[in-house]
Amino acid sequence: LHKVIYDTDIGVDDAMALLMLEFAPEVDLVGITTVFGNIPVETATRNALYVKDLFNIAAPVAAGAGTPLVLESKPAPVHVHGENGLGDIPLPDVIHATPHELPAHRFIIDMVRKHPNEITIVAVGRMTNLALALREDPGIAALVKEVVIMGGAFGYHGHSGNVTPVAEANIIGDPHAADEMFAAAWPVVVLGLDVTQECVMTTAYMAEIRDKGGKGGQFLWDVTRFYEDFYRKAAGIDGVFGHDSSAVAYVLDPTLYAVRSGPIRVVTEGIAIGQTIQMPNTRRFPAAASAWAGRPEHTVCIEVDAQRFLDLYFNVIVDGAKT
Ligand code: BDR
Ligand code: CA
Repeated sequence: LHKVIYDTDIGVDDAMALLMLEFAPEVDLVGITTVFGNIPVETATRNALYVKDLFNIAAPVAAGAGTPLVLESKPAPVHVHGENGLGDIPLPDVIHATPHELPAHRFIIDMVRKHPNEITIVAVGRMTNLALALREDPGIAALVKEVVIMGGAFGYHGHSGNVTPVAEANIIGDPHAADEMFAAAWPVVVLGLDVTQECVMTTAYMAEIRDKGGKGGQFLWDVTRFYEDFYRKAAGIDGVFGHDSSAVAYVLDPTLYAVRSGPIRVVTEGIAIGQTIQMPNTRRFPAAASAWAGRPEHTVCIEVDAQRFLDLYFNVIVDGAKT
């Protein structure tokens, strides 16, 4: 069983990934931590509690960071996930679940210390909670099994950024936090736009999930309507990208991906702010590599078997509906 903490700015694709985590029999979801991003953190926490209620999710919800470490906060991109972050589906007035007493970064530290070498952190929003946890207790880096993130863009398959030509939303939203996260010596696996945008969950695919996936399938269909509309207009695709679910897919089946390892840095100022760069091959000028010496190696996913990703997501949701 993978013990997972899910760190999320719970918008539409985050909710899609949350159901995948909750329904996958190989996952023991031990906590949900929230962060600003797609929506303000208060909305993210409310959404996590709502989905917890709706699907009887046992994992506690701990509320996290509301602003980036250094940058000034920016308004949330409500045109992507809707005002309420869940595609503006109607939400109930009363939500029964309540947040955990600890803030997200403390919750992460506690869980990692309680279960040394067992926790996988799946982080699919700004990396702020992870950076705060590391600042408070750098020792956790040696005790986390793996950090699997959705974020970044490395230019494979012609995929550029989705906020600027070089920057992806989760990284540019708090580039300092992301760089601190990559500076730590815990094993990080990155699912960036290079692989997530190779995986399009089409309208027809989502309709099949709606028809075969019970209550979960209907919920996923409802929340994706607004998001699909956004992608149709913004990216010209007929469906939604499998962003945050890709991080979950990696946990369940890493063989879906081809990877490259090397240190990763994030640009924290200037025209390329938010760009993620993995150490290029410096064989022509080995001395140049010394500038980035001492940074830990991390793993970037550079290829995905998109059909197997789609099958995996589909099967987890549809099988989950039966149990
Ligand atoms: C990422 O940004 C957010 O909008 C999504 O939830 C995803 O985590 C994609 O760039
Ligand atoms: Ca997200």
